[in-house]
Parts: sequence; structure tokens; C-alpha cells
Amino acid sequence: MAIIKLILTIAITFLFLFQTGLSVVDNFDQSQSISDGTTLISKEGSFELGFFSPGNSTNRYVGIWYKNIPVKTVVWVANRCSPINDSSGLLTINSTGNLVLLYQNKSVVWSTNSSEQAMKPIVQLLDSGNLVLRDEEDGNSETYLWQSFDYPSDTMMPGMKLGWDLRTGLKRRVSAWRNWDDPCPGDFTAGVEYDPLRHTFPDVYILQGTSKYFRTGPWNGIHFTGTPEQRPNPLYSYDFVYNDDEVYYIYNLENESVITRLVMNQTTSQRDRLTWNDEDKAWKFYSTSPRDNCD
Ligand SMILES: *[C@@H]1O[C@H](CO)[C@@H](O)[C@H](O)[C@H]1NC(C)=O
Ligand SMILES: *[C@@H]1O[C@H](CO)[C@@H](O)[C@H](O)[C@H]1NC(C)=O
Ligand SMILES: *[C@@H]1O[C@H](CO)[C@@H](O)[C@H](O)[C@H]1NC(C)=O
Ligand SMILES: *[C@@H]1O[C@H](CO)[C@@H](O)[C@H](O)[C@H]1NC(C)=O
Ligand SMILES: *[C@@H]1O[C@H](CO)[C@@H](O)[C@H](O)[C@H]1NC(C)=O
Ligand SMILES: *[C@@H]1O[C@H](CO)[C@@H](O)[C@H](O)[C@H]1NC(C)=O
Ligand SMILES: *[C@@H]1O[C@H](CO)[C@@H](O)[C@H](O)[C@H]1NC(C)=O
Repeated sequence: MAIIKLILTIAITFLFLFQTGLSVVDNFDQSQSISDGTTLISKEGSFELGFFSPGNSTNRYVGIWYKNIPVKTVVWVANRCSPINDSSGLLTINSTGNLVLLYQNKSVVWSTNSSEQAMKPIVQLLDSGNLVLRDEEDGNSETYLWQSFDYPSDTMMPGMKLGWDLRTGLKRRVSAWRNWDDPCPGDFTAGVEYDPLRHTFPDVYILQGTSKYFRTGPWNGIHFTGTPEQRPNPLYSYDFVYNDDEVYYIYNLENESVITRLVMNQTTSQRDRLTWNDEDKAWKFYSTSPRDNCD
């Protein structure tokens, strides 16, 4: 009898942990949700998604940050310009299969807009830091109905495409936070420019508002002509892809255990590459653009 009671207690405890989201999970489906205080953690524990308040603000945002470093560093924000002013936020999948962020369980403050509807929609946080919406019924787990990597905030992560999908018209750009307290886009954006009609060489630029602040010079197939000092480096490899379908810049790590990111900075109007230094427990500058163009 005592044994049965014990087993029952353990079972109920597990059920409780699961229900309140305290267990480590990297995904949720239509029957579940993420409320303020609960999080998703990617499978290998690299990234975490949840609610946070930036700087001195008390506003609540849904974001993704590194799970494996002690300095909270947010790499993506969902409701960048639509903060929630209490702890009632709820991230859930609606009946037509879109990821929606609800305020007081009624008004939609942010949502994805996938036009395709999944049979069995599931939201998953990947170890790359990409938040994806996919169909669990779809045999190919790499077909995404929506992904956060298509809608960058101020940070370009390894494996993310900065550029333009010519088929869908989607432009992926990074834009600086307005300030430490507000992740809504500020003045500075970095992206790729290309004229598909004139077939000009693509160009990586930084915009201030709508005017060009800095450009790398066109890509000639090997490097950006304006930045001949661009050098091979041991940290990452990069590629510039342009064809009839897509034009984008991408970088991938040479060593997967190195943590690095490119971030557009409103204060300095620069695009900085930072790497995590585990000995000092701090981010270190690796390179800066426009000052020293490494990428
Ligand atoms: C928060 O406010 C305090 C006092 O105004 C200020 O010293 C501090 O730098 C602020 N922190 C951030 C992250 O903005
Ligand atoms: C919180 O936001 C809601 C919706 O935007 C608004 O109606 C409400 O007045 C706000 N509450 C406070 C305390 O600011
Ligand atoms: C689900 O969310 C999407 C995006 O906001 C919206 O277009 C759609 O109408 C919503 N579905 C329902 C049933 O409310
Ligand atoms: C949100 O509202 C729905 C009905 O509209 C209800 O079924 C659900 O339990 C509510 N969730 C919370 C967390 O209040
Ligand atoms: C939804 O789609 C529109 C147009 O396709 C796009 O501009 C917008 O950024 C998308 N929003 C999200 C949250 O995916
Ligand atoms: C990858 O980086 C880690 C941490 O900096 C280091 O310990 C390891 O030796 C590196 N591996 C290779 C193959 O360079
Ligand atoms: C922007 O640069 C300033 C000065 O180097 C630094 O203090 C700040 O943390 C940077 N902001 C971001 C978002 O990296």
C-alpha cells in the first residue's frame, strides 16, 4: 500500500511539473502554452525562450537568450514594439495554427503569419537559437511554416541569412534596439541590397533611417570590393549567395563550441561581432563595421 502511495505521489509530482512547465521542454503543441514565468529550453541547453524585461523597463517581452552563459544576452524579441504591461502574457498556438502572444488571454499583441495551416502544429526552440513553427505530421522536420531566423531583431546568429528572398519578397535585416530599455527598432538597420532587374552586384549596407550610412562596396564574387582587408579567419566561414531565388550573406562557425554573434548597435551605429570569453565571463569585440571590416 505504501509503495503504491509513493508511486502515485511521484506520478502526480511529475504530472504537476509537466503541467506547470518546470520540466525542460523544447517544444509545445496546440494543447499547451508558455505563460510568464515558464520557459522553453533547446535540447542541448544552448538557448532559452521566455518572458523578460529589458534594462530598467518593467514591460514584458517574449525573447530568446543564451542559456549556457551567465550574462543574460537577448538575441531575439517577438513583440519588439508591443510590450505587455503585466504578467498575463501567454504564448500559444491558435486554432488555425499560428503562434500568437495574448494579453490577458484575449487581445493578440503579436503573432506569426504563416499562410499554410499545419495538421498538427508544433513550436520548437532549436539549439541554433531559431524558434520554428512546423507540422508534426510532416515527415521532414526541417520544413518550417515560420521561423524566427526570417525575422531577425538586432542580432545575426550563425546559420541565419541576412538578405532577400526574391521568390517571396522577404527581406531579412537586423535593426538595432532603440535603447537598453526598448527593443523596438531604432534608427540603424543592416541588410543586403540588390537590384534584380539590373542585375547589379549585391551590396551589404547599414542604413540610418532611410539613408545609406555605410556600404561595403559591391560583392565581386570573392569579397566586398570596398573592404579589401577582409581576411580569412579561424572563427567562422562566410558565404555570399546570389542567384535567381535568393541573395544573402551567411556565416557558420568553424568550431561549434565558440559563441559569437553580430549585433547592430544603436549607440555606436556600428555592427559589432562579439565573442564570448568564458575565462573572463564577458563578451569581447572581435571586429567592428564600419571601423574594421571583417565580414
Ligand atoms: C537603470 O537606472 C539606473 C538609475 O537611473 C541607472 O544607473 C542604470 O544605468 C540603468 N540601467 C540600465 C540597464 O539602463
Ligand atoms: C496595460 O495595457 C493595456 C492594453 O494596452 C491598457 O488598456 C492598460 O491601461 C495598461 N495598464 C497600465 C497599468 O498601464
Ligand atoms: C490565428 O492567428 C492568425 C495570425 O494572427 C490570424 O490571422 C488568424 O485569424 C487566427 N485564427 C483564429 C481562428 O483566430
Ligand atoms: C484562456 O481562455 C480560454 C477560452 O477563451 C480558456 O479555455 C483558457 O483556459 C484560458 N486560459 C487561461 C490561462 O486563462
Ligand atoms: C507578416 O507578413 C508581413 C507581410 O508578408 C510581414 O511584413 C511581417 O513582418 C510578418 N510578420 C511576422 C510577425 O511574421
Ligand atoms: C573549439 O573551441 C573550444 C573552446 O574554445 C576549444 O576548447 C576546442 O579545442 C576547440 N576545438 C577545435 C577543434 O579547435
Ligand atoms: C553598444 O555599444 C556600447 C559601447 O560599446 C555598449 O556599451 C553597449 O553594450 C552596446 N549595445 C549592444 C546592444 O551591444
